[in-house]
Amino acid sequence: MGMKHPFQIQSLAQYQAACTAAAENPEAFWAGVAENFRWKRKWDKVLDWNFDEPRIEWFKGAQLNITENCLDRHLDARGDQPALIFEPNDPSDPARVLSYRELHVKVMQFAQVLKNNGVQKGDRVCLYMGMIPELAIAVLACARIGAVHSVVFGGFSAQSIADRINDAQAKLVVTCDGAYRGAKVIPLKSVVDDAVTMCPSVEKVIVSTHTRTPVSMIKGRDLWWEDEIKRVESMGNPYVEAESMDAEDMLFILYTSGSTGKPKGVVHTCAGYMIWTTYTFVNAFQYQPGQVHFCTADIGWITGHSYLIYGPLSAGATTLMFEGVPTWPDAGRFWDIVDRHHVNILYTAPTAIRSLMGFGEEPLRGKKLDSLKVLGTVGEPINEEAWNWYNTHIGKGKCPIVDTWWQTETGGILITNLAGVTPAKATFATLPMPGVEPLLVDEQGTEIHGNGVSGNLCIRKPWPGMLRTTYGDHERCRQTYFSTYPGLYFTGDGCLRDEDGHYRITGRVDDVLNVSGHRIGTAEVENALNMHAGVVESAVVGFPHDIKGQGIYAYVVYQGFHEDENLTRQDILATVSRVIGPIAKPDQIQFVSGLPKTRSGKIMRRILRKIAEGDTSNLGDTTTLLDPSVVDEIAAGRAT
Ligand code: PRX
Repeated sequence: MGMKHPFQIQSLAQYQAACTAAAENPEAFWAGVAENFRWKRKWDKVLDWNFDEPRIEWFKGAQLNITENCLDRHLDARGDQPALIFEPNDPSDPARVLSYRELHVKVMQFAQVLKNNGVQKGDRVCLYMGMIPELAIAVLACARIGAVHSVVFGGFSAQSIADRINDAQAKLVVTCDGAYRGAKVIPLKSVVDDAVTMCPSVEKVIVSTHTRTPVSMIKGRDLWWEDEIKRVESMGNPYVEAESMDAEDMLFILYTSGSTGKPKGVVHTCAGYMIWTTYTFVNAFQYQPGQVHFCTADIGWITGHSYLIYGPLSAGATTLMFEGVPTWPDAGRFWDIVDRHHVNILYTAPTAIRSLMGFGEEPLRGKKLDSLKVLGTVGEPINEEAWNWYNTHIGKGKCPIVDTWWQTETGGILITNLAGVTPAKATFATLPMPGVEPLLVDEQGTEIHGNGVSGNLCIRKPWPGMLRTTYGDHERCRQTYFSTYPGLYFTGDGCLRDEDGHYRITGRVDDVLNVSGHRIGTAEVENALNMHAGVVESAVVGFPHDIKGQGIYAYVVYQGFHEDENLTRQDILATVSRVIGPIAKPDQIQFVSGLPKTRSGKIMRRILRKIAEGDTSNLGDTTTLLDPSVVDEIAAGRAT
């Protein structure tokens, strides 16, 4: 099925040579990689940057369209190869397969629909959909015409959608009637209806039919996807030219949580992101032509953007998209899918592995899993037990596991082993991609040299896939990522570098939680809690959770109980669901009479974290607190 990718690293020596070349002359190195893409115009300058502003420009002057690279350029060589396999929620429903040629046509059709509805280059389009092919089609259709997509994960509330739509001033929303999640149907359109009443910028809502959940369609605003496609078909399916995009034009916005209350819109641009997702896809997973790649992440998160859509399609792979959940109708669902579609690369999250591990070996009975060649994990640190189970029971000891560390902001993988090419080490992301220079710093920003050390993880130089700004607020981008340690990109993660120089990411060092691989800011949850009538004040911390990695623990000062405490807890959870979405609901709520604060009013989270972890033995020095007695009360009343 064709040749290996020209930039595929095939040995440890080649990896070392690539690292040296990328470090010594990044411009020549990345220009060499860029030669393997389709450009409408070549670049004037490969790289121009300054982390103080920050300003990061890759391939300035070049023009391209990422969909030409993901679709058009494959038509001759592999037009009939499956581009996308869709496995529906219900295993008794048929899978849908779209060849590169079919996907190309569908993307152009929907691109024309967007144009017919007034969407132009640079306009923002919000996508709030389930995991169905129409979501991938909508993403690519936006890219085709140069509209900026902002995908909002289907687990977010109407309020969260509205905040994101308003921040981006999106003029069109694409949704579906509903989405299936196991035995449940989620009424997405009705959530969008609640959202858009708060969004004056929205002119049109396009609704794809999937669950046949009844929806209200508002005249003049709401349109059916299928009707709009028919209109385009009746005009004879016009060829929709891929818009010429400047290398640094915006490709998409993806909102993510940080240590403040308001999620920020991470901005990725066209050329650098394309090159980074393709290069890392081909190298980390050692993708071979013709292979089927199954990324279990939702397209609402960065992993779905980079390794379900853009990276695999740009590389000409077959990407598999799964609508349902790993445990329905039973905990063997992933393994059924692997066997049914002969999956070669499986990329999932530690939380899914831990959850499936909990079901034991029964769901694996009768599953061959012999098509698997490479396994991957992403999103959170993987514990040794889960790594071993994945290796033994899924990989049968024959599949390299890549532990890929990266972030929404990095666009693609930064630290990972390359499957079967560079050494793997359980629980370690191991070594950086060529062109990535990680370093560890202490609290003062002094670099920690040598091996066998820990510190805060920073990156020294730009890589093509990194974020360029936060939408509408460049200063926030500078402050969040480039000001803590001047001259460096700060990741927010803590990290160990072992005696062999291998990196192990140990978790966030800021006020960001990682719950089942979902990134949630503690301040965001606190804001939501504080909106509940009766909540005077709250503090949220993470605690170790066997399956989710981290759970959410909330300390709440509440005034005026007039009923059972547990009913109040339910009400508070309903408020969090309403404000952010069900994914942000605390696992534990402890009512307290006050929070431990310093005399200057700062909440002592260190103490709250220890209590939430169940370690009340040594809470450290509490004498600087305004009211030390509150600590004893909180420790005694710990929720279990
Ligand atoms: O703490 C790190 C953790 O996930 C954070 C990024 O979250 P998000 O932007 O939602 O992107 C997740 C998917 C790329 C990081 O700051 N993280 C991600 N991958 C790993 C990880 N922690 C440990 N090991 C990983 N492989």
